[in-house]
Amino acid sequence: MTTLNRFAQKTVIVTGAASGIGRATLIRLVSEGAIALAVDLNEDGLKESVKLAQSAVSGGGRASHVVASIADEAAVKKIVADFVAKEGGLDVLVNMAGLIRVSHTPETSFEQFMSVLQINLGGTFLFCREALPHLIKRRGNIVNAASTSSYFGHPYMAAYAASKGGVAAMTHTLAWEFLKSGVRVNAVAPGGIATPLAQSVGGMFPEGADQSLFGHLQPMAGFGQPENVAGVIAMLASADGAHVNGEVVRIDGGVHS
Ligand SMILES: NC(=O)c1ccc[n+]([C@@H]2O[C@H](COP(=O)([O-])OP(=O)(O)OC[C@H]3O[C@@H](n4cnc5c(N)ncnc54)[C@H](O)[C@@H]3O)[C@@H](O)[C@H]2O)c1
Repeated sequence: MTTLNRFAQKTVIVTGAASGIGRATLIRLVSEGAIALAVDLNEDGLKESVKLAQSAVSGGGRASHVVASIADEAAVKKIVADFVAKEGGLDVLVNMAGLIRVSHTPETSFEQFMSVLQINLGGTFLFCREALPHLIKRRGNIVNAASTSSYFGHPYMAAYAASKGGVAAMTHTLAWEFLKSGVRVNAVAPGGIATPLAQSVGGMFPEGADQSLFGHLQPMAGFGQPENVAGVIAMLASADGAHVNGEVVRIDGGVHS
C-alpha cells in the first residue's frame, strides 16, 4: 500500500486492466487517488480488478469498468467520449492491453500476423488518437506497453515483436508531435514479468523450436512482478515524471543490459 496521493482528482483510463500489469497499474493509480476507468475484454477479470482497486483506496480514488476490445474503433470512440463527458476530462491514458502469439515464421499466415498488429499496435493507436484531444486540454500524458522485443530479437514472435517495435516508434513520434501542447508520451518495455501472458509463452513454442536461441530471454534475475512495472508507470504518469517524455523504460531485471 502506497502513502502517495499523486493522482488525486486525476482521471485515468487503463486498458488491459483485467490482468497482470494493467490490473496492478489500476490498483496503484486508484490507491493514489485516481478516478479510473478499466477497459478489457475479460469481464470477470475486470470486476475483480475494480474490487481490488476499491479496497486499496486511501483518498478519493474510485474505479469503474467497460468491457470492449481495444481494436473496436467505434467502441474506443464511445468509451473515451463517455468517460470524458461523465468525469469532465482525461488526465492519463495507460495502454496495457495486448496479447502474444508464438509460431514459426514460415508457418504464420498473413491473417495471424495482422491480427496481432491490429490489437497491440492498432488498439494502442485508437486509444491514443481518441484521448489526445482531451489530454491536450489537461496537459496530460500517455504510457504505452512496449516490450524488450521492441529492441531485441525474440525468436518465433515476429508479429508480437513488430507490434511492440511499432508501439515504441509511435511513442517517440507522438512525444514529438505533441511536445508543444504539453502532452507527454512514454512507454514501458517490460521483460519477464510474472503475468498470465508471460507465463503462457513457455507452453506456446512451436515444435522444433531451437532452445539455444532463448538464452537472452531467460529471466536470469527471476521473474519481475506486475507491481514492479506499475510503480514505474505511476512515476511516468505522475508529476514525478514531468520532464520524462518520449522515453521507453526497460524493466527486465537487467537481462538486456
Ligand atoms: N509480462 C511481460 O513479461 C511483458 C513483457 C513485455 C510486454 N508486456 C506487455 O505488457 C502488457 C500487459 O501484459 P501482461 O503481461 O500484464 O499480460 P496479461 O495477459 O496478464 O494482460 C493483458 C490483458 O490485455 C487484455 N486484452 C488482450 N487483448 C485485448 C483486446 N483486444 N481488447 C481489450 N483487452 C485485451 C487481456 O484480456 C488481459 O487482461 C501487454 O501489452 C504486453 O504485451 C508484458
